[in-house]
Amino acid sequence: MRAFITLEGPDGSGKSTQAALLAERLRQLDFPVVLTREPGGTAVGDQLREILLDPDNQLAVMTEVLLMAADRAQHVEEVIKPALENNMIVICDRYVDSSLAYQGFGLLGDPRQVKAINEVAIGGVWPTLTVLLDVQPEVGLRRHVLRSSSRTEDNGLDRIEQRDLSFHQRVREGYHELQKIYQERFALIDTTLLEIETVAEKVWEIVVQRLEIKTR
Ligand SMILES: Nc1ncnc2c1ncn2[C@@H]1O[C@H](COP(=O)(O)OP(=O)(O)OP(=O)(O)O)[C@@H](O)[C@H]1O
Ligand SMILES: [Mg+2]
Repeated sequence: MRAFITLEGPDGSGKSTQAALLAERLRQLDFPVVLTREPGGTAVGDQLREILLDPDNQLAVMTEVLLMAADRAQHVEEVIKPALENNMIVICDRYVDSSLAYQGFGLLGDPRQVKAINEVAIGGVWPTLTVLLDVQPEVGLRRHVLRSSSRTEDNGLDRIEQRDLSFHQRVREGYHELQKIYQERFALIDTTLLEIETVAEKVWEIVVQRLEIKTR
């Protein structure tokens, strides 16, 4: 089966957690799965990720937009397209909608320019299904701070997480706009009051339905 599933949503909404759980569940049913993430997912992408997330870097808005798109172009060519051509299920933790929400709605207040740039970067490789894990920004960021305090070395938020609450609010509202624009591929789960296991069940229901997976 060929499918391209992306997990999207504000910081701390549970994308990385749910991406891993979904990959595991699909692998248990013997589906070939590629689990990957952005920014990063390739050797070059990991270097771009460092530049993008390092709190010491002062990036101009357009630099951030273009580096995210450059990372994505590399990721599509090196990882996503080959896997889809091999009829695998690709699960990607953040993709084009992250740029539309964060750089488009969050920084520029308008997604059009970011969309045009990203259309060039992805060359038509749009997701089959986008699971939008929604969360109130305060709750999402608190989950991160809780996690960080248990880390030994790096207990700070990254360059983008450090932006103020109004930025994160615009990102969240941006995602809601995207859900309206791309209704056919989007599915929304509000995770604010839900446990990880409950969210995982909802993600699974959506994936089974959209991909028409026979569970027995
Ligand atoms: N539904 C939930 N309820 C409570 N805690 C959660 C929930 N989902 C995830 N968490 C916890 O919140 C933290 C952030 O989760 P995770 O890293 O999966 O989020 P993320 O969306 O990938 O964040 P980021 O956007 O920064 O990559 C983790 O410590 C995770 O265990
Ligand atoms: Mg994550």
